[in-house]
Amino acid sequence: MFMKKIMKYLIVIILLALIGLIGFLIWKYNYKNEYINNKPNDNYDKEPIYLDHVDEFDIKDSNYLERFYERYVAYKKLHPDYSDDKIITYVNIGLDKPFYSDMEEVDMSKKYLIICNKYHNLKKNYVPDLVSLDGYGGGSMEREAASYFKKMVDAAKKEGLSLKNVSGYRSYNTQTSLYNSYVSKDGKAKADTYSARPGTSEHQTGLASDINWVSSRFENTDEFKWLIKNAHKYGFILRYPKGKTFITGYTYEPWHFRYVGESVAKYIYEHDITYEEYYATFILK
Ligand code: DAL
Ligand code: ZN
Repeated sequence: MFMKKIMKYLIVIILLALIGLIGFLIWKYNYKNEYINNKPNDNYDKEPIYLDHVDEFDIKDSNYLERFYERYVAYKKLHPDYSDDKIITYVNIGLDKPFYSDMEEVDMSKKYLIICNKYHNLKKNYVPDLVSLDGYGGGSMEREAASYFKKMVDAAKKEGLSLKNVSGYRSYNTQTSLYNSYVSKDGKAKADTYSARPGTSEHQTGLASDINWVSSRFENTDEFKWLIKNAHKYGFILRYPKGKTFITGYTYEPWHFRYVGESVAKYIYEHDITYEEYYATFILK
């Protein structure tokens, strides 16, 4: 009899506890949703528009990124003469910060459209799916890049021109030795203008090839002239063009070509832009 009473009380207590718990969970769920839906606008108490032509500016169709708003404003103050488009593109690239000051890991999900530069580094142990370039200068490149590289070399050959890969994929360790040797020879500041710090070389992606002659004189060869007109048809771009050092971080490299795929290479070729500008406009979200 006594036990029966205790059981009854226990059941009532458990039921009450369950009702309480369900009530709490429902309240919490609603509160969370309410918070998310009514999140305070970060820009609420700021000057809403600092950029000049924002009225005409179709934010939906542009590369404007809300999270960079304050950086756009600060950069516009430094460069009032720049168009809004330029401000947005340059901040998206990271040009409002010094090179190497705020490194992010390369977003590998972008596949052939990854960016590896003075703002984005690869993991030390990253190795692409490599294919040998025997018969095409030797070394190796990433599988798809290598296949298009070979097509490009074969096409040039038909026009009597000889293209060879002199440096394709380079491991993190190889890049370390290379960069350190340049630093010993020229000092860090100078080395940084032409050699990538370990983890930031496109050669580690397997998507880049130095063709024929690592020298500014390569520019005067028929092979270079052919590449400039035709590389994009095989998905390659001239990665470090003349006069774009402030964007790419490197002095002009007429020999360094990067695989990005045919349609992107065509766009970059036709619009005469750097890969940084392309990435900041179309890839970065
Ligand atoms: N020379 C290029 C920038 C590299 O070292 O990857
Ligand atoms: Zn190179």
